[in-house]
Amino acid sequence: MTGVAVPGRGRLGRGALCEGDRVDFRPLTQDAIDAAPEWMREIPLRPDRWRDAHTRSVVGIEGEDAVAAGILWTSRVHGDRYWFEIAVAPYRRRRGLGREMSARLSALRGDDLAFMTRGYVDDDRMAFARALAARTIQVVPPADIAVASRTALRHHPAVRSAADVEWLQIAEANAAVYAWTHAAWSPVGPQFAEALNEDLADELDRDATSVAVVAGRVVAGRVVANCMVYLDESPPVVTAETTAADTPDGERLVEGCVRRSLDVLAARGETDVVFDGHVSDPHFLPVWTRLGPTGRWFHLVEVPAVPAPARPRS
Ligand SMILES: CC(C)(COP(=O)(O)OP(=O)(O)OC[C@H]1O[C@@H](n2cnc3c(N)ncnc32)[C@H](O)[C@@H]1OP(=O)(O)O)[C@@H](O)C(=O)NCCC(=O)NCCS
Repeated sequence: MTGVAVPGRGRLGRGALCEGDRVDFRPLTQDAIDAAPEWMREIPLRPDRWRDAHTRSVVGIEGEDAVAAGILWTSRVHGDRYWFEIAVAPYRRRRGLGREMSARLSALRGDDLAFMTRGYVDDDRMAFARALAARTIQVVPPADIAVASRTALRHHPAVRSAADVEWLQIAEANAAVYAWTHAAWSPVGPQFAEALNEDLADELDRDATSVAVVAGRVVAGRVVANCMVYLDESPPVVTAETTAADTPDGERLVEGCVRRSLDVLAARGETDVVFDGHVSDPHFLPVWTRLGPTGRWFHLVEVPAVPAPARPRS
């Protein structure tokens, strides 16, 4: 989709801001957030330096009015890229303000890292990201699954409820799964596990969550696969994988975990769940596709930062 006309304002130049566009870029304040118009609230808003150099945010003011906002932040789990979001007032779109804001945010980065954002493939926000030279780093397949489709999956004798397993094992399994499934495209940071598991105890549906426990050679069983069910969303969100990339029989163990979790949800009268994972999850994806998912494809993309303009030589 190209060439969106701005009613009453004509279709002004493509790309750079036009003459007469006098936009003053300032740090975003809590007052500006409190007074934010609806279009600005489409993106997460925090005051500039909310987490010091880890949160930088800007507002573009024209006359008395906010016409653009931008924010970058780091994830406490990763730290390999800056997440970023930009919003432009609807009547000022397609006149280069979004692009200008990406340059402003680029200059606010404390580290020389690229940006990252995400969205459904056919969303306008992704067309904007592509215009900024985004490249796909991960794909999330259609995620809506009918609980009734679970009969395509087999049970597995090693699978049990997470409620029967010590909490520490659940938390460790969660961190282990997360680390290796992100290693190739968005590696975790040094203290990621603490941040990742911070709210897990409140969010996890322990009865519906399933784990595969296989006797270890030394002392005790260990969780080798899991299917986590989260309480804080409706329909419930389901994730699953093995705790190590090279788990023997991994796909079969994940299959059994997902089957049990969906059985528990079915018994409670749930009819739909949302799967959350990636095309690169080798044991989860085959199980996922056998359940006939529907919905939209979702992309995570890396967006290069705008290099600082070269300083004129004196
Ligand atoms: C996405 C958004 C920030 C773009 O702001 P903008 O000021 O219109 O962006 P620009 O004018 O700099 O557009 C740069 C290029 O992005 C692409 N683009 C922007 N909006 C687009 C749209 N709606 N459809 C298709 N392409 C689009 C175009 O290639 C455009 O260049 P062109 O106008 O020369 O064709 C704005 O539409 C918005 O606020 N959307 C709602 C919030 C949102 O989804 N933000 C996520 C951004 S990370």
